[in-house]
Amino acid sequence: MIQLVRGFKDILPPETTVWQSIEDTARRHFENFGFREIRPPVLEQAALFQRSIGEHTDIVEKEMYTFAGSRDTLLTLRPEATASVVRAYIQHKIYAADPAARFYTIGPMFRKERPQKGRYRQFYQINAEVFGVDSPYMDAQLIYMCMTFFRRLSVSGLQVHLNSLGCPECRPAFRQKLSEMLAGRAENLCPDCLRRLEKNPLRVLDCKVPACREAVADAPSMLDFLCDDCGQHFRTVQAALADMDIDFQIDPRLVRGLDYYTRTAFEIQTSELGAQNAVAGGGRYDQLVEMLGGPAQPAIGFAIGLDRLVELFAAKFPAPETGPDVFFLPMGEAARERAAKWSSQLADAGVRVEADFSGRSLKALMRRADRMGAARVLIVGDQELAENKAVLRDMKTRDQVAVPMDRLVAFISEHVGR
Ligand code: HAM
Repeated sequence: MIQLVRGFKDILPPETTVWQSIEDTARRHFENFGFREIRPPVLEQAALFQRSIGEHTDIVEKEMYTFAGSRDTLLTLRPEATASVVRAYIQHKIYAADPAARFYTIGPMFRKERPQKGRYRQFYQINAEVFGVDSPYMDAQLIYMCMTFFRRLSVSGLQVHLNSLGCPECRPAFRQKLSEMLAGRAENLCPDCLRRLEKNPLRVLDCKVPACREAVADAPSMLDFLCDDCGQHFRTVQAALADMDIDFQIDPRLVRGLDYYTRTAFEIQTSELGAQNAVAGGGRYDQLVEMLGGPAQPAIGFAIGLDRLVELFAAKFPAPETGPDVFFLPMGEAARERAAKWSSQLADAGVRVEADFSGRSLKALMRRADRMGAARVLIVGDQELAENKAVLRDMKTRDQVAVPMDRLVAFISEHVGR
């Protein structure tokens, strides 16, 4: 038998109902904040991700599903959505009509990471991206939107970790200082960090390897290097968050795994998921639109890891097994013929119904009704047909009523319809 590919998974009912309700809540919540849905494709030119996420990031160096397309172009299954949303913003000149556009998108991402609990090779994200606004109040409102979304879902125990990564003005001095310090401790670093030392020294700051953590324990902090504008921006974000009653923790080690960030960077973490503790992450990327060939427009966004959110949510609110409102049990060919028509009409009228045409015994079908969690069964046999009434039985209370067959669809939709 052909099995699933490692790191990929099926999402089965009833768990799919949890996904649907989280996605519905996200749509409503984000649209209240002025976001509209955008649906970019899952396939893009590899160069889009190489240029935006950065050549020397784990994602681009080793995690992308890239293959040859036609005419020498390399194609990549998107490892994240931000680059695609930026490409669409530029390509369709969305900035020309209104630079301050806000988008959300929900869908699968692909990264060839080592699979483990909470880490998959196809995973889902809910992304939100805002263009054209450089105000720090936007940063605070975006974090507020994310946290109140979790609150709406009654997912608690989350901490906001906040940092500023500065800008092209002030970051180089910090990078220089950090590189010098790390160069003196190179022999203590893991092989990955040794490579990062050259190309991407900031990433050493959030390496999880104990020796590297020790090596950076007394590392300088980006916050001490922020220029006046970045410092002011960061202070205003914090004051606005405090004003909105959003707790946060300053985390000078938070550097994120993508190179496009400037200024505000944040992660929303939980202690309930083991090693994969980030439920959402994001930040400003004020240079990216211009870097990808668009006008100089600031931007900020975040992505929520939907798989992880579902795990947190389902641990508290397990998916209910939702059976039909009415399960038809026709006994005999004539009854099945009637049941086919009635059940179709009822479904069309908004009642959740299912009819069993298998011809199995009443006892077997009652067992199936139980298993699927049907609220009621409707029994129609030769006798009921002769008497022109069917028996509707409530599976919980066991109460039974006789339903006149000539009014069956109207009767049931009145009594059961939603
Ligand atoms: P990211 O931190 O790479 O950011 O991913 C965001 C979230 O996606 C993570 O916090 C995590 O919950 C989830 N996630 C990431 N990788 C996996 C995986 N292999 N399995 C399961 N869940 C995963 C970004 O992707 C940025 N594009 C976020 C952003 C949007 N920044 C600005 N705008």
